[in-house]
Amino acid sequence: MKIGIDKIGFYTPHIFVDMAKLALARNVEPEKFTIGIGQSKMAIAPITQDSVTLAANAALSIIDDEDREKIDLVIFGSESGIDHSKSGAVYVHQLLGLNPNARAVELKQACYGATAGIQMAKGHIALNPDRKALVIGTDIARYGLNTSGESTQGAGAVAMVISANPRVMELENHNVYLTNDIMDFWRPIYSDKAFVDGKFSNEQYILFFNKVWEAYKEKTGLVLSDMEAICFHLPYTKMGLKALRTVLEEAPEDVRERLLAHYEASTTYNRNVGNIYTGSLYLSLLSLLETKEIKEGSRIGMFSYGSGAVGEFFTGILQPNYREYLNISGHKRLFASRQEVSVEEYEEIFEKTLPNDGSDIDLDVSKDPAAICLSGVLDHKRHYVNKLHK
Ligand code: HMG
Repeated sequence: MKIGIDKIGFYTPHIFVDMAKLALARNVEPEKFTIGIGQSKMAIAPITQDSVTLAANAALSIIDDEDREKIDLVIFGSESGIDHSKSGAVYVHQLLGLNPNARAVELKQACYGATAGIQMAKGHIALNPDRKALVIGTDIARYGLNTSGESTQGAGAVAMVISANPRVMELENHNVYLTNDIMDFWRPIYSDKAFVDGKFSNEQYILFFNKVWEAYKEKTGLVLSDMEAICFHLPYTKMGLKALRTVLEEAPEDVRERLLAHYEASTTYNRNVGNIYTGSLYLSLLSLLETKEIKEGSRIGMFSYGSGAVGEFFTGILQPNYREYLNISGHKRLFASRQEVSVEEYEEIFEKTLPNDGSDIDLDVSKDPAAICLSGVLDHKRHYVNKLHK
């Protein structure tokens, strides 16, 4: 039985800052951010968006009534969770009006959470082929103003329906995964900003990629020319390129050119959003499929990396007519409708956070065009609105 991605949708907040302007404000040459890091625009989450609303807005764009009835597993992959106990999945389940007879849980392992979710969903569908699973990667990447990680922030979510006979991509079963306890990036529970050893994290990302790729080749006998494209977890768009370059020598010239051209297409969305942690690899897949006509039946390599660290290499096969099941025009509209804010406005939005002393707050959701918003905190409980349900 084929199991894989049946639908895939994306959401990012309506405001962004221009990276060249951010560079100038930080006394850095714009090319460092636009070429050296490879980012053009950075999505910013207003106070009315958190990991729950980003996830729910992404899922809202793809699910229909049949999905609402058939989804009986909701996995919320995130490292920006809003509660140490209750999972974001339960809020999303309610906001989307899903079948009550469902399991809903949150998974955490840095940027790897959604990949873990997809692999678990595959097992669930293998046992329950007539059901569907909703897997979401949702995050707000925060390093802090004037930090070296600042240029790699971002916000957004990717939602996927995993099912039997998937219409977008069948997930193959030759996965290779690797865990090693390292401190390259982490966020202690008292901090709303990540701590990072930037250079070490870059080295470890590449090392993990090299190790899982070597093991994948040994396990499957497949080589680079069997991959039409490879999508990477993209903390910033130059990162995947650095990893890809370490193996390109293995392939003949035409394959190298193809992989590099497809890599470029797989970074377009990420370049304009920034790091969305758990969703980044899947945003890169969307970018590839929606900005380039990749042949049906092609094998796509996927490299997932979550600091701390867990890495995985796996592959998928594009299904017949898969482009008909993408939301290309919806995503075009989403990008086109975003508004630029100045660096000063971005800094103000960044510093405007929810109270952390337990006090209440009432939020104005009228300026946020998202359907689902955080409307406030009352008695230590977050309250959400779905503007489509008046
Ligand atoms: P930095 O010190 O600001 O930058 O840190 P740099 O000095 O390393 O320069 C960056 C690049 O810009 C270099 O290119 C420079 O040469 C180039 P490279 O040599 O690396 O190819 N450059 C220029 N290029 C053109 N014109 C110029 C110019 N000037 C310089 N004028 C760093 C960069 C990424 C380390 C930092 O932003 C950071 O710490 N980011 C956060 C950590 C991160 O993203 N790590 C990636 C791997 S770990 C990961 O992916 C997991 C993660 O997503 C978290 C999770 O799993 O949850 C982060």
